[in-house]
Amino acid sequence: MEHKLPELPYSKSALQPFLSEKAVDIHYEKHHRGYVNKLNEALTEHPQYQEITLEELICQAPLNDSIFNFASQIWNHTFFWHSLTSDDSQLASGSPLAKKIISTFGTLEDMLDQFAKVGMSQFGSGWVWLVKDPRGVLEICSTSNAESVIRNNKQPLLICDVWEHAYYIDYQNDRAGYLKAFFKCINWDFVENNFNKQ
Ligand code: FE2
Repeated sequence: MEHKLPELPYSKSALQPFLSEKAVDIHYEKHHRGYVNKLNEALTEHPQYQEITLEELICQAPLNDSIFNFASQIWNHTFFWHSLTSDDSQLASGSPLAKKIISTFGTLEDMLDQFAKVGMSQFGSGWVWLVKDPRGVLEICSTSNAESVIRNNKQPLLICDVWEHAYYIDYQNDRAGYLKAFFKCINWDFVENNFNKQ
C-alpha cells in the first residue's frame, strides 16, 4: 500500500499572517511530503508493514525506528494542518469541550498559557498536544521528535508543531511568538469534534 500526502484543508496562503505562504509551502511540500516519500521507500524493505494503516504502523513499529518516525511524522503533520483554520474560529461557550476546559484548567486562557509553557519547555524538536485520556481527563503534554500520544492510548484533540522547521522562516528562533500566533488560528470545530469522539 502506497501512502499518499493528504491534501491541505486550505490554500497555502490561507494562514497568513500566522504563517506565510512560503513557510506553509516549504513545510508541506518539503517536510510533510518528504516523510511520505521516505516512508514508502522504507516500506519496500519491510514487507510486514506494507498493508497496515498509518495508525497501526505508529503503534506496531519499534519506537524511534525509521518506519515509526516517518509514519508518525506524516500523521502528526496531517493533524497539525487540520488543527488550524483561516476562519475566525472560536470555542463555543457552554459546549461540552468548553465546560471540560474550564473545569480542568480554570479558563481557556489558562489552558493556552499552560499549552505555551509546555511548548516552550519542550527541549529541541517535538510536538505539543491537548489530549483526552481513556478516563476522559484532559491533559497538555509534549512529545520529542516524532513521538506520538496515540501510542499511549490517548485521544489527540489539538497539536502544535514545535520543530524549528515549523516556525523558523516566519519567526526565526521566536518560538513564543509562534505559539502566541498559533492560538489565533486554532480550528475549534476540529478540536471539539475530536473531543466528542468516543
Ligand atoms: Fe513540521
